[in-house]
Amino acid sequence: MYLDPDEERMLAGENGETRQKMLELLVALGKVFGAERLVRIRSAQVSGASYKTIGEYGLAWLSSLDARVVVPAVLNPIGMPRERWQEMGIDPAFAERQRAVISAYERLGVTLECTCTPYYLHETSFGDHLAWSESSAVSYANSVIGARTNREGGPGALAAALVGKTPCYGLHLSRNRKPEVIIEVKSDEKGWGIARYGALGYHTGKLVGNKIPYFRGISPDYDQLKALGAAMAATGAVALYHVNDVTPEAKKNQFDLSGLEVIRIEPAEIDQLFTGIPIDAVAVGCPHCSPAELVDIARLLKRKTVTKPLYIFAAQGVIEKNSNIVNTIEKSGARVFADTCMVVSPVMERYPAIMVNSGKAFAYVPDMCGAVARIGSIEECVTVATS
Ligand code: F3S
Repeated sequence: MYLDPDEERMLAGENGETRQKMLELLVALGKVFGAERLVRIRSAQVSGASYKTIGEYGLAWLSSLDARVVVPAVLNPIGMPRERWQEMGIDPAFAERQRAVISAYERLGVTLECTCTPYYLHETSFGDHLAWSESSAVSYANSVIGARTNREGGPGALAAALVGKTPCYGLHLSRNRKPEVIIEVKSDEKGWGIARYGALGYHTGKLVGNKIPYFRGISPDYDQLKALGAAMAATGAVALYHVNDVTPEAKKNQFDLSGLEVIRIEPAEIDQLFTGIPIDAVAVGCPHCSPAELVDIARLLKRKTVTKPLYIFAAQGVIEKNSNIVNTIEKSGARVFADTCMVVSPVMERYPAIMVNSGKAFAYVPDMCGAVARIGSIEECVTVATS
């Protein structure tokens, strides 16, 4: 693997022991995956931020590092909101250790945003190289923005943030970004909202595994693309997909689709995922809500009062910029939380049946929350929570 003179000096320890160790890690990763060189990144998104996941060992490792990030870096959602954790009924002992993890990242210069939607906070553009961790964020960056990132593990993303570079392999290379299977969706798309695209992603992920799908027959907007990609990354391992005439690389490139397997998806295959089982709580915001989603939820909740717990999750920066909307939502009794989500926080574990509008949450809630999951549109979620 080629290293330039600056990288050679860093590897020799001239920029301190932490950067030396981080570069060693990146070089080792690069060698495993056949990278020929490193590539500069525009930003990093680092997983391994929940104390529940990394524990004392991870915290000790983070505390041993002595350098600051050289590109914008944010964290994945953690086990609780940083500010309103008592309201969620989080154990104070857990909160204290979680705060220690956050402080360790703060000392490294990581921005204290804990979100799977970093693209709402830091400008990310077509062709940017990134080192992001969370699967839905990776999918959105690659597919919807046309940026380039592999799905990084926590230490790899943090190392990239501290060095400013990542090994150039996998989805950083154009030759690995071509469609591998065609998904032909049979539908006129009337009434297709975020939940239906999430359900399509849930179904498609199971069919394609880790292949790069090329969709025909759909024309989703940004939030619908977010839902589609998040779900495919959950039930499959899809880190990049294309949609004919919609996503940037599908519009820019004349992909050669000849000879690719074609999978046809009928509306009935999606319809069967929508059931009417009784529900104890509703959770929305997987991936974290966009400003447009918050506006839509506020509109639906206007002059209504929730009768079942309704949790909404979004990035702190998005909540702060939309405080009036959030106030309208919370007047109904619903709660909008930052930094965490229905899957990584323990809050949803107390409900036996949970309704979501997300294909990804629909896939994860049974295992991660030990609950029965139901998927429905945002309108249905609000109706269930307020009737
Ligand atoms: Fe984000 Fe949590 Fe869903 S991390 S994508 S809201 S499971």
